[in-house]
Amino acid sequence: MEKYIIKGGNRLHGEVTISGAKNAAVAILPAALLSDEPCIIENVPNISDIDITIKILLSLGAEVKMLDKSTLRIDPRRIRTPVVEYDLAKNMRASYYFLGALLGKVGRARVSMPGGCDLGARPVDQHLKGFNSLGAECAVDHGMIHVQADRLVGAHIYFDVVTVGATINVMMAAVKADGLTVIENAAKEPHIVDLANFLNSMGADIMGAGTDVIKIRGVKALHGAHYSIIPDQIEAGTFMVAAAATGGDILVRNVIPKHLESITVKLQKIGAYVEEFDDSIRVTGGGPLVKANVKTMPHPGFPTDMQPQITTLLTLAEGTSIVTESIFDNRFKYVDELRRMGADISVDGRVAVVEGVGRLMGAPVKATDLRAGAALVIAGLAASGITEIEEIHHIERGYEDMEKKLRALGADMKKISIPESVLAQAL
Ligand code: EPZ
Repeated sequence: MEKYIIKGGNRLHGEVTISGAKNAAVAILPAALLSDEPCIIENVPNISDIDITIKILLSLGAEVKMLDKSTLRIDPRRIRTPVVEYDLAKNMRASYYFLGALLGKVGRARVSMPGGCDLGARPVDQHLKGFNSLGAECAVDHGMIHVQADRLVGAHIYFDVVTVGATINVMMAAVKADGLTVIENAAKEPHIVDLANFLNSMGADIMGAGTDVIKIRGVKALHGAHYSIIPDQIEAGTFMVAAAATGGDILVRNVIPKHLESITVKLQKIGAYVEEFDDSIRVTGGGPLVKANVKTMPHPGFPTDMQPQITTLLTLAEGTSIVTESIFDNRFKYVDELRRMGADISVDGRVAVVEGVGRLMGAPVKATDLRAGAALVIAGLAASGITEIEEIHHIERGYEDMEKKLRALGADMKKISIPESVLAQAL
């Protein structure tokens, strides 16, 4: 078992470089299957969700080569099976992107129901509705999702909810369908635009990504491409909040400031000073932090993936803040852990009332999911005393070298491994 041990209280200062976006990469790597030639993808984050994605690609018969630490070459010419088994899919939500990619590539796919962060019910009905509209038969049995089509035909699809996953999956299935597909009420997140840019660089014809109507005109074939993934909006936002929470001063490099606007505005309201440059952003804390209300919304609203981190910051602010989670049913599980550190937060369904307590105290805590884990790291950095965070595998799913990057900013933080034999003796 591995843990982070953080001795809080240091003001973070210096520069940090943001890695490629997890939620773009986990879509772009499967999308490379749609090409008839190899693709080279740069700025791939070194995180465990990408390790799983690569294992799935290899299990399907694709050839994957690491050209350097963040560059992959994917050759999809020898795909031998359209099946993604439970053992691989169970650990990652985005394993369901292999449904759209394989359906578009070979007309069928069988993928185990996906795993990923437990944030409440996460149905896939809109994905299946989209595939169905394109002419695919869909069925779920024994935990496997089956999709199959002799021929995919462009269609008009209106999503009942704004969904990142279904927008991505339907885009991938539709790029080679006959005729025009129109997705209405599409998600507009930066990674949707990044995937569309990648597919277009392979010869796809996609317009409107980043708006709520995406038009995809099917093409016969896709060719290889050389593409660089956008920087991770949420990793950047996490470091921005860490600067504010520790009264620090961090220059966050390799970002697209436009993607960070909703986070920037909220941090300014809470009392941080934020300065934007072309591809970096500087956050300075240290002044008084004040209450703010936050409601998560689909892009360009405040991202649900930053909700635990901003809630943690609000515990350090003066006054009562209301945080409303409007995307997922159950994304406040980390609150019990923050309470162990002295936070005063009450949760009723999707609303949390945060009474600012000014300071937190170190305690042993457990990461309940990826962003919850990031929030606990921020809490530990800001708290007095020692915080021990267990279950850090959740954090490593989505943050590249988090403790190294934080240490370089002055954090007193280390990762320790406790051998299984020692754990067994302790039981
Ligand atoms: C993606 O999840 C991200 N994951 C999540 O990031 C992120 O929190 C979420 O989008 C929202 O931005 C990846 O990109 C791999 P959705 P996804 O489909 O695709 C409902 C992180 O921390 N819905 O946009 O699963 C659903 O229940 C992770 O990096 C349906 O009802 O999210 C939710 O309430 C966590 N039916 C809402 O839509 C469906 O068929 C939005 O879900 C699909 C979704």
